[in-house]
Amino acid sequence: MEPWPNLDVLEQYIAPARVDRVDGVLRSRLGSVTAVFEDIFDPHNVAACVRTCEAYGLQDLHWIFNKHSMRTSSSVAKSADQWVDMHRYSSTTDAVRELKSQGFAILVSDLQATDTLETLPLPAKTAIVVGNAHDGISDEMRQLADARYILPMWGFVQSYNLSVALALTLQGVVPRRRNELAQRGLSGDLPMDRMWQIRRKWLEFGMTHPELIRRQHGDMEPTL
Ligand SMILES: C[S@@+](CC[C@H](N)C(=O)[O-])C[C@H]1O[C@@H](n2cnc3c(N)ncnc32)[C@H](O)[C@@H]1O
Repeated sequence: MEPWPNLDVLEQYIAPARVDRVDGVLRSRLGSVTAVFEDIFDPHNVAACVRTCEAYGLQDLHWIFNKHSMRTSSSVAKSADQWVDMHRYSSTTDAVRELKSQGFAILVSDLQATDTLETLPLPAKTAIVVGNAHDGISDEMRQLADARYILPMWGFVQSYNLSVALALTLQGVVPRRRNELAQRGLSGDLPMDRMWQIRRKWLEFGMTHPELIRRQHGDMEPTL
């Protein structure tokens, strides 16, 4: 396992078990799988999605607000939002342009699709899109998608709750990606410089004045 570039000065003030926990989660984080939410505004759905993504080890979540703004339910999120990085866009076009420029293929969960997830290839970088509870996926997103899939249903209802659709998708995608990584001896795939920056931030959580301690130790590197 690649060593950290330095010792973080905060480590001496934190229980070793907590530092190990931070390191374990960080080394398992995925940067190559991300989730995109198109106009999802119900705070309980937002919170359930964030919590699910965090549990699956995704680091970046992308929120498109064509019509709505973000609200979350802290009782459902269980603080999951502090461990992930949120990226916000004011249009579907902006979000897709940015994600494609980062090399992501856009994989859209869509009730109008005919392919199923298992039949689709898993690109090296995959952005999974879910739509809002009332309108579903926008036509614009459908046109911009690299692939669309439907999650099979056998009952009377016409769709899954969006956070459930997300969880079913992640269960279809994340173990596949983790298997590929395991074959290369890896548990996650964030680049080292990114992990180091996130580690600085995560170690600060729960400390009263981490910036003062950093300054006392001459650590002037900004924590992003
Ligand atoms: C409650 S559903 C939206 C229902 C909406 N009335 C529609 O027609 O799309 C919310 C989102 O969850 C995802 N979803 C739910 N069930 C799905 C399924 N069976 N297959 C694919 N995506 C699904 C889609 O992204 C959908 O936009």
